[in-house]
Amino acid sequence: MRRSAPRLPLRRASFGGTRAEYLSQVCGLLWPAPALVTLTSPGRDPLAVTPPGGGVSARPTPAPAELIVIPGRARPRLLVPTERRAAAAAVQGSSGPGLRTARLRKRAIRLAMASGAGPFLFRDRLRIQAPEDSPTIVSYLRAALGSDIRLSMHVGAPRANRKPVLQLLTAAGEPIGFAKIGIDPLTSRLGLAEREALAQLATARLGGLTVPRVLHYGTWNGLGVLVLGPLPTWRERRPLSDSRLAAAMREVAGIGGLTREPLAAAAHWQRLGARLSAADDRPDRAALGSALGRLADQAGGTVLCYGSWHGDWTPWNMASTGRGLLVWDWERFAHGVPIGFDALHHWLQTEVVPGRRDPANAARELIERAAALLDPFDVGADEARLTAVLYLAELAARYLADRQIEAGARLGAPGGWLIPAITSELARR
Ligand SMILES: Nc1ncnc2c1ncn2[C@@H]1O[C@H](COP(=O)(O)OP(=O)(O)OP(=O)(O)O)[C@@H](O)[C@H]1O
Ligand SMILES: [Mg+2]
Repeated sequence: MRRSAPRLPLRRASFGGTRAEYLSQVCGLLWPAPALVTLTSPGRDPLAVTPPGGGVSARPTPAPAELIVIPGRARPRLLVPTERRAAAAAVQGSSGPGLRTARLRKRAIRLAMASGAGPFLFRDRLRIQAPEDSPTIVSYLRAALGSDIRLSMHVGAPRANRKPVLQLLTAAGEPIGFAKIGIDPLTSRLGLAEREALAQLATARLGGLTVPRVLHYGTWNGLGVLVLGPLPTWRERRPLSDSRLAAAMREVAGIGGLTREPLAAAAHWQRLGARLSAADDRPDRAALGSALGRLADQAGGTVLCYGSWHGDWTPWNMASTGRGLLVWDWERFAHGVPIGFDALHHWLQTEVVPGRRDPANAARELIERAAALLDPFDVGADEARLTAVLYLAELAARYLADRQIEAGARLGAPGGWLIPAITSELARR
């Protein structure tokens, strides 16, 4: 008989809350009952992560699987396999905004794992006890991919589109792929969209960038499971010039062809409006709606060039290596947006990483910098400012439609930074 462990405290039922709460919710989906997941810590009582299911003791249960919890169970950020080489490779393949301190920390942890000291430095474990034939994400992926797997999971900060992205490895640390798991309507839609985007990109004959291959897509336990081939992000990094980055973004913009249309007649304008109408009725929505009305009055007839964009092209969604420019995370790929959106997004998102600067200031500065950022896209100065306003509106509408405020996302409220930049530019014109 197993001792029943106290439950990890949960404040909310949805996929929100602290990293520990989110981990608990996700574990319940990836290892449903009769599997049992606990968080162990030397000298302390284990915490039950998933509710104890019935029947475990009646069926043969192999030795529990364990993942190392980094840095510890109170603030779980990364789970890695216990095998030395798989653990080091998992740390290497994990990512986040590439701040210097984060890179140094990651290097130190990778070296600790590679030397075998990691399991002694990080002593908390996620322990998974599953009867031999019980369906879990591991049994599903093993069957889908036809190979034994070890997995690693980064536990991200709160946001509406937070989802488990499982790094899949062999026990020897060879990369197998990445499984992105749709756990709710938004993340399931994003997984399907990424699958569709990668199918289009596979036929686009891109020269300046490399994108992941889709290895598998399926649904399991009500979850969408998209498995992507691993890009060789472990290769030595090469500096990336602004011109090479812009050339790659131009190549993506050209997928599906370019069109020239008046701002208020373009399909993009209709989509923006539709997205906003579908968002919850809150003050930010009304403020953005009236700003867009003003924009249509001021510049609805201005002709812009439209093309495709990645949709979330940031330094942490790409790597410049000796094997070329690797770009992943294509779930927001879309056609028919004013060209240059990717360049604007890349600049703004880099400026607003945690701790760097005031986001409202950065959003205003984006408009001032738009002409320079969009010069490689042959966009004139006035059109560039308009494109920046449309980009800020696009991001604001995305956050509102995705309910980022409710998810507790940092910068999730567009009224605090994006909308003021839009309205001050409209007042200036
Ligand atoms: N095909 C791949 N090859 C190499 N690394 C990958 C691949 N797919 C995902 N990753 C790694 O997993 C991380 C999370 O994946 P991805 O960015 O696609 O998911 P996400 O949930 O949309 O992330 P976020 O919203 O945090 O940017 C990536 O930053 C990258 O480190
Ligand atoms: Mg990403």
